This record gives sequence, structure tokens and C-alpha cells, in this order.
Amino acid sequence: MANDQEKEAAARASLRFVRDGDIVGLGTGSTAVYAVRFLGERVQAGLKIRGIPTSVQTQKLATSLGIPLTTLAEVQEISVTIDGADEVDPQLQLIKGGGGALLREKIVASATRKFVIIADSSKQVPMLGKFPVPVEVIKFAEALVAKKLAALGAVVKVRADASGRKFITDEGNHILDCHFGQIPDPPALARKLETTPGVVEHGLFIGMASIALIGKGDQVLELLGKQS
Ligand code: A5P
Repeated sequence: MANDQEKEAAARASLRFVRDGDIVGLGTGSTAVYAVRFLGERVQAGLKIRGIPTSVQTQKLATSLGIPLTTLAEVQEISVTIDGADEVDPQLQLIKGGGGALLREKIVASATRKFVIIADSSKQVPMLGKFPVPVEVIKFAEALVAKKLAALGAVVKVRADASGRKFITDEGNHILDCHFGQIPDPPALARKLETTPGVVEHGLFIGMASIALIGKGDQVLELLGKQS
């Protein structure tokens, strides 16, 4: 079964976690798009929710579908967030940020009671690290941070957009894609990244996911993580 069908099936399965009255964190990326579209259909059918998008891209999509939105300025507790991932390990540690929205995604996830990950089967890995860890940096510190992360063992690439210019995040920063190879101790690496001045956020999501719904063939696997 194609990855797109697995993404769609995982997204559809995530809808059962959304109830009337919920504040819903809306993820970013091709898998999250399915979930936002399905939520749009439910809203059209009468579901009462308010969404908090994790990117400008998702904000536009949700608005076009008629999903009422709110902000962290208005509410600081999110009932459920549905988002994709680039890698998911057996402990539900994640690499996220392939779409460049890791900063807002992590902020929204941190305010969420039930963080639901949806993904196709290619994202399930025994150990994180094949996918590079995106690290969002302030421009002023970019070269310095790149050097420090290379000293930690990463092959570092500044992310570029389709036109070859440096990718700019929704918060106006750059992204360094850091290939560490296999990451045997993600929390230890996360701590190193967090203590590097100039790093705004990184794409290791540790101890945040409540459940991962993985589309696999014509099934959707459920992996349990942090209990909410
Ligand atoms: C966006 O910044 C990312 O964290 C996405 O959630 C992640 O890259 C997965 O994207 P896809 O669903 O497009 O694979």
C-alpha cells in the first residue's frame, strides 16, 4: 500500500481522540494535512472545536476549511494535538521538523494533554538517526552553532528552500539539518543541543507523544507512549 494511503488511514484513526469542545493542536506536514481535512469535514458536520495551528501553512489550510482557530494568547491548555513525524522509535521518541515547523510544533505539543502522532510505516524505526535532526538557530549564531554541532559529530547542512535560498522558518530563523547517524541516547543529545547558545529549538521530541498511529499496509498500529 502506498505511503499516502497509510498516512490517510493513520489520520482518519486519529479523529476518535477529538471531542466536542476540544482545543485541537493542528500539525504540519503531508500527514497532518489529511487530519486537518478530516477535521474540516467534521466541523462542517457540526463538530465544535477550536484549532491552534503549528504553522502558517496549516493556519491557511484550516481557515480555508472553516475550522475556527484560537491562539496560545487566548488558551494555554490544548486537549489534543495531531501531528506527523519524520521518525518514531519504540519509546515514541521522535524526530520532527522535516517540514520546518518544529518550533511551533514543540510549543504546541508542550501545552497538550494528548499528543497523537500519525505516520506511515516508513517513519517507524528501531533507533532514531537516519533522518537528520533539524535544529532551528538564530541567524546571528548560525555559523558558530554549525561548528559546535559538527564538533559533536554531526554532518551539518543549512536548509535551503526550492529556489536555493536559505529556508526561513515561521519565526524568522534558519534550520541546520544535522546528520548524527544512529542516536543511541536521544535525551543526552537533546540536552547538548539545548545547552548550545543560539539554538532556538531542535527536532528531538522526547517523552511528549501519548500515542503513535502508524499506517501499515491496510492496518493502523497503535504504539503507546506518555500516558495522559
Ligand atoms: C513538520 O515540521 C514536521 O515535523 C512534520 O510533522 C514531519 O516532517 C512529517 O511530515 P510528513 O507527514 O510530511 O512526512
